[in-house]
Amino acid sequence: MHDELILPAEKYDELILAARSARKNAYCRYSRFAVGAALLCKDGTIYTGCNVENASYSLGICAERTAFCKAAADGYRKGDFAAIAIAGGEEGMPPEQPCYPCGACRQVMAEFCGDDFEVILADRVYTLADLLPYRFALD
Ligand code: THU
Repeated sequence: MHDELILPAEKYDELILAARSARKNAYCRYSRFAVGAALLCKDGTIYTGCNVENASYSLGICAERTAFCKAAADGYRKGDFAAIAIAGGEEGMPPEQPCYPCGACRQVMAEFCGDDFEVILADRVYTLADLLPYRFALD
């Protein structure tokens, strides 16, 4: 966890609330594990996402990548993102435990974000550098 938080204090609460709200739309009929994410762009825009599963299990997509795909489809690119909040847990239960992003989502963060990108979980904040210190890149 890093203690030099970058955003204004109230932004962390706002993003967690947005992630929890997005989680209500999780389509998770196979795992019954509901995740929501709220991705903050540096211009203040917030993109939300939820996990969307499929009967062909491997086609499911995580909440974080849903949010990044929505933003990328609107033209946002590397360097445009400040933070993401993630709220996840058993469907129908409050998301009290931190829901760490999976490896695939960390790699997607690496595609679009730098070391100081903040990942906000239930009660702690990490940076991308904390969560994926040695990461693959082509440049
Ligand atoms: N899931 C996410 O949405 N984000 C993560 O970072 C981890 C896992 C979803 C994928 C699947 O729909 C469900 O949680 C159970 O793995």
